[in-house]
Amino acid sequence: MRKPPFFPLPGEFPGAIWYDDAEIEAITQVIRRQSPFRYYGPECGLEVRQFEEEFARFLASAPGVPWPDTSGIHVTAVNSGTGALEVALDALGVGCGDEVVVQGFMWIASISAIIRNRAVPVLVDSDDTLNMDPAALRKAITPRTKVIMPVPMLGGCARIGAIMSTVREINAERIAAGLEPVRVLEDCAQSLGAHARGIPGSITASGPDTIHRAGTFGDVGIFSLQINKDITAGEGGMIVTRDPDLHRRIEALHNVGYAKDHEPAQNWYGDVPLGWGHGRRMTELQGAIARVQLRKLDMILAQMRRSHARFEQHIMDLGLTPRAHADAENPGDTGYYCIWRLPDSPLDDEQRIAKGRAVAAALNEWGLHPWLLHDFEVHVYYNILPLIEKWPMNNGCPWKCPANAFHEAYSYARGSLPVLDEALISSVGINVPSRLTPEHEDRILEVIDYVFETVIRQ
Ligand SMILES: Cc1ncc(COP(=O)(O)O)c(C=O)c1O
Repeated sequence: MRKPPFFPLPGEFPGAIWYDDAEIEAITQVIRRQSPFRYYGPECGLEVRQFEEEFARFLASAPGVPWPDTSGIHVTAVNSGTGALEVALDALGVGCGDEVVVQGFMWIASISAIIRNRAVPVLVDSDDTLNMDPAALRKAITPRTKVIMPVPMLGGCARIGAIMSTVREINAERIAAGLEPVRVLEDCAQSLGAHARGIPGSITASGPDTIHRAGTFGDVGIFSLQINKDITAGEGGMIVTRDPDLHRRIEALHNVGYAKDHEPAQNWYGDVPLGWGHGRRMTELQGAIARVQLRKLDMILAQMRRSHARFEQHIMDLGLTPRAHADAENPGDTGYYCIWRLPDSPLDDEQRIAKGRAVAAALNEWGLHPWLLHDFEVHVYYNILPLIEKWPMNNGCPWKCPANAFHEAYSYARGSLPVLDEALISSVGINVPSRLTPEHEDRILEVIDYVFETVIRQ
């Protein structure tokens, strides 16, 4: 088979590669107004506050339909996705003695935010979406469980409808037994704009059984605006909730810890002390860029979805199995990354890893940003050395905290999550840039064919 020649591809950062005069103009306005801080300055409050409102309306919108005027969703902009997770867990009351249930395919920040809040991460296995398996959830719950954190990875939705209905069942039992209900924090850093079917609400239904945006099913959802994400302000994060009381805590904690109960607040930082703040405010510069990017999001998603659908169909035509969609009939995934499983093989695990690496190395010759998921850095629980070795923070927390002594029963070593472990050594993926033309897609399909014939089938 003829080896396809190398060809240049558009960059892979979905939002940044669409930066143009609109972002330049928006940020220039902030500089001309000499108002980079959201709460005070000559002409402050024009960007981040409006971005929060627009983000809420976007999240409340049905795909392909104009944003509604009101949303019922409260949004707090912060300066990173990591910060969003830390503030959200704090606002949910997570601390010593608590467990947070999280999947093993995520990003290190999903874990570090739990540790920084002095709680113990509890791993739960994944299903064929590579996200949290609703069927495995019950086994991971103990009386100490405070929060469940699904992490829809690389733009692919979890079976969030099933997760939420399992959580409502668990909570009905807990409330009957006099236990606190568990809460759901969706870490949607990698899946802004994705949508899935289900009923939102962790205790009672807080919306109809229909399509909702990822991040609006649980008690809190977070997003990231870092450069790898669907839209970007370089850095940035969002925290969203339908619960006004939780929003009040999030607002306070993302700033200096004071709630703004009076309008206008007596102080820029608020009026009523609620706790210790995280200092995670978003700048007006970030807000200005993010507002422009949000208006491009539907177009970016449409581009990635179109290319992803072509790659996925081709992979199936070759007899390979792509990563499952949570909803096969109406997939709401963003299309950011295309993953498939290598054919079943009689080889042992180490030989299969070597084979998967050879496939990734072959795809890498054309700059497709491939990974054998097993090697996908600190997205994989057993690649996070400070987790498997249980590194403490300076005060020894969370592992040395007496209230957390139960952690002895938990291991984070490879082998803890059999279904995910198997998927990681047998799945490879390629990036789906948001600016591919049909001609680029044709060339990538030729590369996939070539690697299929010369490496995968060998
Ligand atoms: C799943 C997940 N959670 C959290 C984060 C943290 O976001 P940030 O990089 O904005 O701090 C990321 C970022 O890569 C992520 O992928």
